[in-house]
Amino acid sequence: MYEKIIKADLGADVRIIDLRTDTLSRPTQEMKEAMYIADLGDDVYGEDPTVTELERRSAELLGKEDALFLVSGTMANLITIMVQCSHRGSEIISGDKGHTCCLEQGGPAQIAGVQSSPIKNEDDGTFSLDVLREAINVNPNVFEPKTSLIIVENTHNLCGGVVLPLDWLEKVGDIAAEHNIPVHMDGARLINAAVYLRVSPKRVARDVDTVFFSLSKGLGCPVGAVLAGSNDFITKARRVRKVLGGGWRQAGVLAAAGLVALDTMIDRTKIDHEHALKIAKAIHQMKSNIFKVDLAKVQTNIILMYIDRSKVDLKQLQRRLQTVLDGDSVRASVRCSSLKSNCVRFVLYYEITAEDVQLACDKIQLVIKEYDEIFSLKNVIPQFK
Ligand SMILES: Cc1ncc(COP(=O)(O)O)c(C=O)c1O
Repeated sequence: MYEKIIKADLGADVRIIDLRTDTLSRPTQEMKEAMYIADLGDDVYGEDPTVTELERRSAELLGKEDALFLVSGTMANLITIMVQCSHRGSEIISGDKGHTCCLEQGGPAQIAGVQSSPIKNEDDGTFSLDVLREAINVNPNVFEPKTSLIIVENTHNLCGGVVLPLDWLEKVGDIAAEHNIPVHMDGARLINAAVYLRVSPKRVARDVDTVFFSLSKGLGCPVGAVLAGSNDFITKARRVRKVLGGGWRQAGVLAAAGLVALDTMIDRTKIDHEHALKIAKAIHQMKSNIFKVDLAKVQTNIILMYIDRSKVDLKQLQRRLQTVLDGDSVRASVRCSSLKSNCVRFVLYYEITAEDVQLACDKIQLVIKEYDEIFSLKNVIPQFK
């Protein structure tokens, strides 16, 4: 319905290419069929066979003892924090661009009563190991919080879908082990990381104690995330899930889509990565002084296009990408998001076809050319409607 309204506004020949985020992906036909015939029970009693199967297979995929099916990644992070930081006066160390730190409404403080003590994220999603060592405090004095959890994010969303190096993860694991602190991986897009590195998801998660991956992003499911860890951790997590209102009954309807995702959607994410690189290269090719992309950082399904803020108004740029003017040679409306003030983000997922990608490249190049031409002629801000 919504799409129909936009189409009517734009003209029937216009293709809408929505690259705001991969959560826009809708379930495949195979998922819908599996959901329809799923074997169901009450999952709060541990009696939904489809959920149990998804949890068993996810634990195996991630190389952990057990797993828990949840409504969202935000809940996976929050539950982990509540389990691992159950002593009052706890702190979490994570990167300062981490999702838990920036994009979860301060859930650790708001709900778990835990302090976030972020350290600077590097552009590659890592943080300095020396700074981490310095920040850890497991023997606090009467004034200080006690470090109870370290969180890493893989792939890293705000850093543009970059993949954490395996040797860095190993070192984080070693430092944490020295101090007996658990490490949690926010692996909303862990599958993309594994596909990029050409290793198993289990290998990516090897050096962390707990990890979750999202089903509802690049894997295309309607809802869901799976959190994995030791038997003891998952028993505690199951209890916390209930108090947060996350105990769901015949959740096998959703888990059925997750099982299809595990069978059919993992390897194909490399197509999204190829699509992202194609768009990035199209931006790079323009050699614009106003729009930049760092090709080395386009590793998975996310592209950050940096803009010269003195010349481009972000909202105006987004509007221009979305609008198709009468004389435009490219009949595509491209939507993107802006999580930071100096760039826009394009995210690929399975419903974005090769044809869409070509059109998106053409449209983005058309808009870049317009800005470049205007600024090469006169130093004024272009006035798009
Ligand atoms: C890195 C990361 N972690 C956690 C989340 C939260 O996942 P959800 O939207 O399922 O709550 C997201 C969502 O985009 C994310 O990108």
